[in-house]
Parts: sequence; structure tokens; C-alpha cells
Amino acid sequence: MKLTLRVWRQPGPSVAGGLKDYTATDISPDMSFLEMLDVVNERLIESGDIPIAFDHDCREGICGACGMMINGVAHGPSRATATCQLHMRSFKDGDTIVIEPWRARAFPVIRDLVVNRGALDRIIQAGGYITAPTGGAKDANNIPIPKQDADAAMDAAACIGCGACVAACPNGSASLFTAAKISHLGLLPQGQPERFRRALKMVAQMDLESFGGCTLFGECQEACPKEISIDVISRMNRDFLRAAVSSPAEQTGGGGDG
Ligand code: SF4
Ligand code: FES
Repeated sequence: MKLTLRVWRQPGPSVAGGLKDYTATDISPDMSFLEMLDVVNERLIESGDIPIAFDHDCREGICGACGMMINGVAHGPSRATATCQLHMRSFKDGDTIVIEPWRARAFPVIRDLVVNRGALDRIIQAGGYITAPTGGAKDANNIPIPKQDADAAMDAAACIGCGACVAACPNGSASLFTAAKISHLGLLPQGQPERFRRALKMVAQMDLESFGGCTLFGECQEACPKEISIDVISRMNRDFLRAAVSSPAEQTGGGGDG
């Protein structure tokens, strides 16, 4: 395949950036999107140019490090697919592909396609630790958990923290991410002791960062490579409201989805 890449180049956070065109030749349809960028970068390095900076780590859709706007769509054209798992067969020979970093006030550009997603880490950090007994590992199935709750918690825990939901949201909201993180603990018995305090603290931190508010556009769940449902946002809002009208003593323990 031969492609024209229109790539956002920005040397640093406080320097203006712009789109620059590159021709990518001899690209196999079986390459992943990041492998295609590797090939382009090798050629840039060989010709003495500065390679395109982009984030990646696992390249298996697990770590959440990769992520870019591809033709204006977070993670590109394939549904439920992180950028690293997107394949070039999703494009046609001769296509022009516009590649930009996440566009969100809370994610300042560090360089080219790399943005600072530290705000997401600070939301998780605000949630704090869970109360967990120390000692030997418990026997499997020692704590009975209804299958429905276990499945819902596992679905929420699939969030890889990539930030596509923020980038896709017209408001730049981090509600899907925060709600997924709140739900995956809040649905399990082990997550009950700090359930409501955790919701209060994580939502407060989300509000402190430069994210926008959620108005339930639903773009986030469309962009999410792990298909996290916006149902978790309703759940977060319920926990937050319950915590906001409770005394600090009442903010411990949930006992079910309540
Ligand atoms: S909710 Fe989905 S889109 Fe948002 S950070 Fe988690 S995995 Fe990425
Ligand atoms: S590089 Fe880890 S999810 Fe894409």
C-alpha cells in the first residue's frame, strides 16, 4: 500500500504544532497501525529527520498507552479496537490518513502524538487504597459474589485508561473513565468499606482537573476500545449523590448496588 500520512508534529508543549505530510510506501495490509508508524520512523531516521513521537507499550490492547485521533476518530475506524490493534487492512491503497494527538484541555501535548494523561492517574490516586485483610491468600470462592455483580465489575475493570473517552467527548469529560474505575470496586464486596468516600474523592479530583462535564452524548462508549457502557456513569452518579447527602460516618459500607 501507498499512503499519505498527514501527521501532527509539535516539538514541545509550549511550541506551536502543525500537520505535516509524509508518504508511506510498501506498507503491508497485515501491519498494525503502530508497525506502519515504525516503518515511517525508520525511514525518517535513515534520512536524518526526527521520528514521529507516539506512545505505546504492550501493543496488545492491554496497557492503554497508545491512542491517537485517526481521521478524526479516537483509535481509528475499527470498533472496540485500540490503536495498537488496528490493522492497515482497515485502509485502502492511496488513502490519506490524518493522525493527531488526543484533543482535550486536560491532556496537554508533550510532543507530536504524545499527550500527558497524568490527570487520569491523579483521579485513580484520589480513590485511595481499599481495606483488605493481610495474611495468606484466601481460598477461591471464599467470598460469594453474585455472577451478575462479578460480570459487571469485570466489564468495568476492562478499562485500560487510554483516554479515548475524553478525546471523543465533545465536552472533554472523563466521566466514563472515572465511573469505570469507581464501579469495578464498588460492585464487589471487597470494595464496600470505602465505596462512597471513594466516589466523592474521585469525582472531586475529576472536577479539579481540566475535564468538562458529562451531558451524556454517548460518544465515549462508541470510542472505548473496551466497550465500557455509559451505564457505569449512572452508577457513579448514584454513589456520588448518596455520598454527598450522607454524613462522613455513613459514607462507609454500601452493601449491594443500592
Ligand atoms: S473508559 Fe474506555 S475509552 Fe475511557 S479510558 Fe477506559 S478504556 Fe479508554
Ligand atoms: S500499546 Fe498497550 S494498549 Fe495499545
